[in-house]
Amino acid sequence: MPIFLDSSKVNEIEKFHKMGIIRGVTTNPTIMLKDGLTGGMAGIEERAKAIARLVAPLPVSVEVTTNEHDRILSQAKIFSSWAENINVKVTIHGPQGELENMEVIHELETVHDIRVNVTAMMSAQQCFLAALAGATYVSIFGGRVNDMGRNACGEIIKLRNVLDASSLKAQIIVGSTREVLNVIEWLEAGAHIVTVVPHLLRGMLVHPYSKETVQMFLRDGAEVERLLKDTTIEEL
Ligand code: E4P
Repeated sequence: MPIFLDSSKVNEIEKFHKMGIIRGVTTNPTIMLKDGLTGGMAGIEERAKAIARLVAPLPVSVEVTTNEHDRILSQAKIFSSWAENINVKVTIHGPQGELENMEVIHELETVHDIRVNVTAMMSAQQCFLAALAGATYVSIFGGRVNDMGRNACGEIIKLRNVLDASSLKAQIIVGSTREVLNVIEWLEAGAHIVTVVPHLLRGMLVHPYSKETVQMFLRDGAEVERLLKDTTIEEL
């Protein structure tokens, strides 16, 4: 039940990767923009390669920036050629619900042998169709599902049951994390992976009472050292 990091900031990724607690990285154009990425496609290439190199062989998702059939195909081929561990994110359908993306997803996986992460999904039924099309990862946006007044856990439970029963290879990534508690509750509901924004990963790790306890140990440790300062190691 791995955790991925939902970020394109190399220093953030490096920090959590060095701790050994992340098993992959997800990005999208909105995250890249928010993280201050510049330089157009060359900027995306440089950043994606840097992240892929840093975490290899862990998977890195890079999203196409277009919804035109031919450009999705060509971007997917280019992005996946940057590193072996890069998979390509494609949205489930176009901005007006255009259906052609599914055909591209199927073609990328089955003809071009490119791993696809189908994204921007809000329901188990969308994810199931993406899985049938051959997607390696199906990304459901748990926080947005909850924002719409539904419970993401219900969708995750249904989806995991259906995927397991159909022996489809797709792995469920639940993204759009909003609260620390989302991570464990979504994994428990059946997500294969939860992708977490950096500040929530920090929130999972740091507990105010742990801080207080560590402060107590350090305070008392200093006192013990002070009291024992004339004692030799052999005497301890
Ligand atoms: C997908 O991988 C992300 O989690 C995506 O950025 C959605 O997150 P948001 O709903 O917080 O924007």
